[in-house]
Amino acid sequence: MADTPQEIHSVLTEARVFPPPEAFARRAHIRGMQDYQRLWDEAAKAPEKYWGDRAREELYWKEPFQTVLDWKPPHARWFVEGRTNLAYNCLDRHLPALKDKPAILFEGEPGDRRRITYGELSAEVNRMANGLKSLGVRKGDRVGIYLPMVPEAAVAMLACARIGAVHSVVFGGFSAEALQERMNDAGARVLLTADGGWRKGAVVPLLKNVTAALANTPSLEKVVVLKRTADVAIPSGSKWVAWDALVQGQSDVCEPEWVESEHPLFILYTSGSTGKPKGVLHTTAGYALGASLTTRWVFDLREDDVYWCTADVGWVTGHSYVVYGPLMNGVSTVMYEGAPTHPGPDRFWELIARYKATILYTAPTAIRAFMRLGEEHPRKHDLSSLRLLGSVGEPINPEAWMWYRDVIGGGRCPVVDTWWQTETGSIMISPLPGATPTKPGSATFPLPGIHAEILDRAGKPVPRGQGGLLFITKPWPSMLRSVYGDPERYVRTYFSELPGRYFTGDGARTDQDGYFWLMGRVDDVVNVAGHRLGTAEVESALVAHAKVSESAVVGRPDDLKGTALVAFVTLKAGIRPSPELKKELAAHVSKEIGAIARPDEIRFAEGLPKTRSGKIMRRLLRDVAAGKQATGDTTTLEDLNVLAALSQNDE
Ligand code: WT7
Repeated sequence: MADTPQEIHSVLTEARVFPPPEAFARRAHIRGMQDYQRLWDEAAKAPEKYWGDRAREELYWKEPFQTVLDWKPPHARWFVEGRTNLAYNCLDRHLPALKDKPAILFEGEPGDRRRITYGELSAEVNRMANGLKSLGVRKGDRVGIYLPMVPEAAVAMLACARIGAVHSVVFGGFSAEALQERMNDAGARVLLTADGGWRKGAVVPLLKNVTAALANTPSLEKVVVLKRTADVAIPSGSKWVAWDALVQGQSDVCEPEWVESEHPLFILYTSGSTGKPKGVLHTTAGYALGASLTTRWVFDLREDDVYWCTADVGWVTGHSYVVYGPLMNGVSTVMYEGAPTHPGPDRFWELIARYKATILYTAPTAIRAFMRLGEEHPRKHDLSSLRLLGSVGEPINPEAWMWYRDVIGGGRCPVVDTWWQTETGSIMISPLPGATPTKPGSATFPLPGIHAEILDRAGKPVPRGQGGLLFITKPWPSMLRSVYGDPERYVRTYFSELPGRYFTGDGARTDQDGYFWLMGRVDDVVNVAGHRLGTAEVESALVAHAKVSESAVVGRPDDLKGTALVAFVTLKAGIRPSPELKKELAAHVSKEIGAIARPDEIRFAEGLPKTRSGKIMRRLLRDVAAGKQATGDTTTLEDLNVLAALSQNDE
């Protein structure tokens, strides 16, 4: 069988097991598999007691909750009747004790640095919270955030949380069109943005994009602009407000809005297999508990940690593990604005040495890129402050895992491969570094309280060693509560495969020891460089181009990005294929969605393989894109010649 070498390879890698280093385990929060098992059993036996205890320990409650969980599948309400505030939990709770401790260690791409203490951050957040109120923002209003990775992004999120406004962060790499669509879906009243941000030595034109989006965002009443790059002036007009002017003169005291546990905290858009992006809705207390607890346990936080998660705040990882998780735990979090390799291939390593970072949490795509650049770059810097490494975003191949452990971690740092999703809010399957023996490429075991199961479509558990669909079969506090504005889609997307059980969209298997191995998405969603993209969105961007008649976009395995995007395109009658047109189409997708969605390869085709009912058979296209013979059932294919023609088209 064609797959045999791969199987042997994975059997070989499974043989490598790395127990937690003894010195690490001795000081860890969870010190061995017995501790882990005890917690897991406790949580399984009495989930409401388990989660109730954790919620009381982990969070400050203005008013205690009366009911831990109200579960009417698929709708959960956690910590009912409790009241809290997330900004309070991140800031006030640590004051005055941590007043002078750095909360954020910021470095801009050009090399500018800021050390912001908990005391200063708290004052900034309160001023901005008062500023938002002065613009008329009230509890429950939506606020868009479209900023570079600068401390003000955290200030903006926390200011919203403080007054009970719902933030919706849009990744700064997204285009005007993507921003517009998200602002409209959320019905945002205010947008917090900047003139630009720095990336690879150039300015990301945020303000230009905002201006373009504004023509079609009727709900936006005010746009607040932070000066970052100072390359363009803030337009005049009553909609526009300068950030500095807004916060200047505001009081640094703002009484937190004590919101109910289920008060919406944020909306974050993520790709689906069909149609427009989904506004994943998270609420306050359950999300806060998940982010806080997993940050401490998975990264085994200590008071003196300097913690660096390299994600952008535009993704959920930035929400949970740059801003909320670390701040709730009172550690110092590093924030870096720019590209990992600017101005040189060792920027990350230079940062680690400068800030004496103890924990690094990054994505496999970055690790593979660094591997390719060579060991000499990390070797130039003192990385001895590191004591723990984390990975997130996609399956990490064992080779990259080993390189990460040996070259970056000097062989002494445990590696935690953390599986989770925008929808899960916080880490679900991951080693606990002082407890779990790790295997390169495996996310190991579900955390206590998390019921991850691998099932077939009928809901039957698949035997160990065999692949199946990954479900979470019991509710957990940081689960999404809905798809914003489309509750029906929430049910359809996540709870219709097996009613009452959350479908992750991922395939997985367990090995003989019960370790979880993630196998990627099973739907028409691909993971490019650690970020989920719906192929349908790229397709709809392509067909919006005047010369395109039809398109199908699939993923192809790629050494660096994990998955590369391949677009099959049929052109309108009379349009001639050309290399220039390929460039034009790729640029068109960048403009519509953002550079992240730019196809790596465009292939013109006379026709696409379809079923008799007209459904494009992407399964076959995936094989063609990977240069393989199309395998599997082709009996429903309408016209076999189409497939033959596609395989020949290798230009
Ligand atoms: C999808 C979620 C969670 C934050 C970043 C992405 C894939 C994520 C892992 C991992 C294997 C992983 C899954 C998941 N994924 N982490 N450690 N091992 N796959 O968030 O955009 O919501 O994407 O990323 O396919 O479903 P997201």
